Amino acid sequence: MKLAPTVKLNNGYEMPILGLGTYNLKKSRCEAAVRHALESGYRHIDTAYLYRNEGLIGKVLGEFVCQQKLKREQVFLVTKLWDIYHNPEKVQYACNLQRKALGVDYIDLYLMHSPVGVYYISDEDLMPHVEGELWTNDVDYVDTYRAMEHLVELGQVRSLGLSNFNAAQLERLLKSCQIKPVALQIECHPGLVQVPLIELCKRHDITVVAYSPLGRPTPGRPTPEYLKDPSVVALAAKYGKTPAQVILRYLIDIGTVPIPKASQEEHLNENLDVFDFLLSPEELQQLLTFNRGERLWKFEKAKNHPHYPY
Ligand SMILES: NC(=O)c1ccc[n+]([C@@H]2O[C@H](COP(=O)([O-])OP(=O)(O)OC[C@H]3O[C@@H](n4cnc5c(N)ncnc54)[C@H](OP(=O)(O)O)[C@@H]3O)[C@@H](O)[C@H]2O)c1
Repeated sequence: MKLAPTVKLNNGYEMPILGLGTYNLKKSRCEAAVRHALESGYRHIDTAYLYRNEGLIGKVLGEFVCQQKLKREQVFLVTKLWDIYHNPEKVQYACNLQRKALGVDYIDLYLMHSPVGVYYISDEDLMPHVEGELWTNDVDYVDTYRAMEHLVELGQVRSLGLSNFNAAQLERLLKSCQIKPVALQIECHPGLVQVPLIELCKRHDITVVAYSPLGRPTPGRPTPEYLKDPSVVALAAKYGKTPAQVILRYLIDIGTVPIPKASQEEHLNENLDVFDFLLSPEELQQLLTFNRGERLWKFEKAKNHPHYPY
């Protein structure tokens, strides 16, 4: 079984440079995908409180550990603090809920899902609305992060990171944090590469995790066009790979860690099989021509909030 290589994070822990995304993976499809992923060599799983599948992932991971197929520490488990838990007093509570669902003592990487706080009504109401608008609050993400740092001190979380932060927000947080974030998870695919943000992260030794790395292809939809573009199809033929594998390799070659979501076994297998070829500098330049600022996730419900990142 081949495993993905790892990247050393700025605190010394190692993270596999390809992970399984799990957004929208529910019920038996989630269990089957995670089971197949672990069996076939995935050692990095990305979930979130928002995805409502931490319990299923914990169940499958627990089975593997119980059957001694894997040790807990062999799997790099990433989850995210949801926006309703930004109040510093709620952070430990949320992390406890998530560790319990995942069935683990510690989370490898705990990300703040976004810089925007939302009012807490209940653990089930993930997007509370008032008068038709998302009910955001004014909790400062710096204060939320401080409470997350405490989780590291308690040993409940090994590494901290951020998601959906822009450059100014990241720089502001870096000025005040005591424990440096190891990773920034952002939307990153050929249509939206966010080069300046990646460069900023490189300067600070923060690893960029690329979400929606394939641009969310859906059967029957023409987008993303780059997966069918003749130049990408030609590169795939040249290396004996599929267009999706070329795209994942591209994202790895520009220094990011892609986390494609897949439920079909063929896709799961394909996505992990990208470590036996390299794209040339000219080919990377060619792929960069698709970078046209096509943001898929605009999070528009929070667009009037002062911490809205886009
Ligand atoms: N931090 C955030 O705010 C945030 C936001 C969005 C996503 N994420 C994370 O990033 C992960 C990935 O993003 P995503 O799920 O939005 O999109 P994605 O990974 O770009 O696309 C997922 C889609 O691609 C298909 N696919 C997978 N491998 C393929 C292949 N080799 N060839 C053709 N199609 C393939 C999947 O189909 P099948 O399922 O049919 O196999 C699925 O429909 C999420 O699951 C989540 O963990 C984080």
